[in-house]
Amino acid sequence: MVWMKKTITLKVDAQKPDIEKIRIAAGLVRKGGLVAFPTETVYGLGADALNSKAVLALFDAKKRPLDNPPIVHVSHMRDVRRLVESVSSDGKKLMREFWPGPLTLIFRRSKIVPEVTVAGLDTIAIRMPRHNVALALIRESRCPISAPSANLAGKPSPTLAKHVLDDLKGRIDAVLDAGPTKIGVESTVLDLTVNPPQVLRPGGTPFELLKKAIDRVELNPVVTAEKPLRVEKARSPGVKHKHYAPDAKVVVVEGELRDVVEKVAELTKFYKHRDSKVGVLCTDETAQCYDADVVKSLGSRSDLADVARNLFRLLREFDLERVDVIVAEGLQLQGLGLAVMNRLRKAAGYDIVKA
Ligand code: TXA
Ligand code: MG
Repeated sequence: MVWMKKTITLKVDAQKPDIEKIRIAAGLVRKGGLVAFPTETVYGLGADALNSKAVLALFDAKKRPLDNPPIVHVSHMRDVRRLVESVSSDGKKLMREFWPGPLTLIFRRSKIVPEVTVAGLDTIAIRMPRHNVALALIRESRCPISAPSANLAGKPSPTLAKHVLDDLKGRIDAVLDAGPTKIGVESTVLDLTVNPPQVLRPGGTPFELLKKAIDRVELNPVVTAEKPLRVEKARSPGVKHKHYAPDAKVVVVEGELRDVVEKVAELTKFYKHRDSKVGVLCTDETAQCYDADVVKSLGSRSDLADVARNLFRLLREFDLERVDVIVAEGLQLQGLGLAVMNRLRKAAGYDIVKA
């Protein structure tokens, strides 16, 4: 379909957004339009979750495969009740402890949810974002909002309104611009329809915190996979699709830090000899070790929050600088490192080199 929309940008304060601008955006959502908005993780592209036509348009704008359902965002606990069949005691505990925040919970869905909103599944992914702009938008729209990350399918998720416009200008109605997002990787997705509950996607809420909050919880094998795994569609629909990939080829080097530095330097030399423009994605501790065309640091290895915040922006910057190959240092799999490494391995199409 060929169509161009006029995409308006509404600049708002992240803490105290101008209610008039929120109402303009909410009016668009109520009419079945598409509005990008900031959350604490990444920017989302929102549509009325109960309007099938609007949700279909959302898939279309993102060029997203119809079998990968987006997350439904709510602003109040009571919004959950009519979307789901029931909430377990684990579910109640997690909502109390982690909402609003970067934790998405999978429940069995109720009948009022349109098929397209959940890609035909009998489950639904729900979260309450910790961001005043997102919460105000949901409240003023007076409907739950389906919102995948506001990028073209396959690209790194947007952490700035500029990233949204780079991908979706002309394809969506508006973007609420409240500056950079705080966490930088998406929410943790936890499936509560299985026993024990299972993390399907690591994200902004570390696994270690979930383990403290409920008795039993485990990681689905896809979370730590080092190669593409075949998964049952109903369990983890997003997994088989290409994700987070910049235009450049990405290679991730994993191992002990000293060996990693050596291997990254060796690969840099190798690709340079083949006339490639080489980028290295590293950390403050190692940034001086490399002689690549472009060297970018994610931040200090001792500050994984900073690393997560910078990840997607730097992947996009390498593309703007027309790098052919990105050689990335691996990080520890603890805390937010698990989410970062999951994104990096996928961005690399699982091209992992063990140092
Ligand atoms: O932080 C985030 O989660 C961001 C912001 C905008 O909230 N949203 C986001 O949405 O990352 P999206 O659509 O890009 O990712 C949704 C993930 C996908 O991996 C999808 O497969 C999974 O949630 N998902 C959605 N519904 C599901 C379901 N019923 N069962 C299992 N997984 C589901
Ligand atoms: Mg996404």
